[in-house]
Amino acid sequence: MFTTNTEDIKRACAQKALDIIQNHSIIGLGGGSTISHLIQFIKEKPNFDISIVTPSAQTKQLCLSNGLNVLHTEFVDHVDLAFDGCDQVDEQLNALKSGGGIHTKEKLIASMADDYVLLVDESKFVPRLTFEKPVVLEIIEEATAYVTRVAEQLGGKVQMRRSAAKDGFTVSDNGHLLMDVFFDQTQIESIKQLDSQLRSISGVLDTSLFVDVATKVLVATENGMKWYS
Ligand code: 5RP
Repeated sequence: MFTTNTEDIKRACAQKALDIIQNHSIIGLGGGSTISHLIQFIKEKPNFDISIVTPSAQTKQLCLSNGLNVLHTEFVDHVDLAFDGCDQVDEQLNALKSGGGIHTKEKLIASMADDYVLLVDESKFVPRLTFEKPVVLEIIEEATAYVTRVAEQLGGKVQMRRSAAKDGFTVSDNGHLLMDVFFDQTQIESIKQLDSQLRSISGVLDTSLFVDVATKVLVATENGMKWYS
């Protein structure tokens, strides 16, 4: 039996995404393996002259090493189209992006974009977010105890993200702490409400929940592509 592996599916997804990029446009590119495939396709497309903004240091490096034009985000106020991956996205286009810890910058680029398109293989597309991964909060250090208390009142179990970087804590590219908050899916009545409650806690810069952010999702399967919007 012929089976396509996940990497082939991601590559096919990236190739389909290439079709909707207009020449001479400014595009946003997030992080991850599907975006890496898209970079390869952009590089190989003849006479294609686009500019890129990215929240991801790895993506920036990959674009530069492939000779692509990367703009400084601080000088950009509008993006024509942005692509990103995610950990999971649901049928309402709510997404969770918990791995990278760069969600604050990812949302900035998403906000500037006319369209913010998530590229996923079908294993990531679900009827409703399952919250197996935590919601990540980027927080200012002084707010650690306070944000912990409020997140727990909202039903979360809090774990600071740890590494060797800063007194044992992981620090974001922006120099802030990252707090993983685990929720029980069955206890969440409204994902939108949860996101707005978390975002409104003083000291929280942003959450890794993307609610009303994605405008389209391209789901790649062994049998082809499907758009959701
Ligand atoms: C991390 C993310 C990444 O964009 C996502 O994990 C990339 O996925 P893939 O490598 O499958 O394209 O959201 O939180």
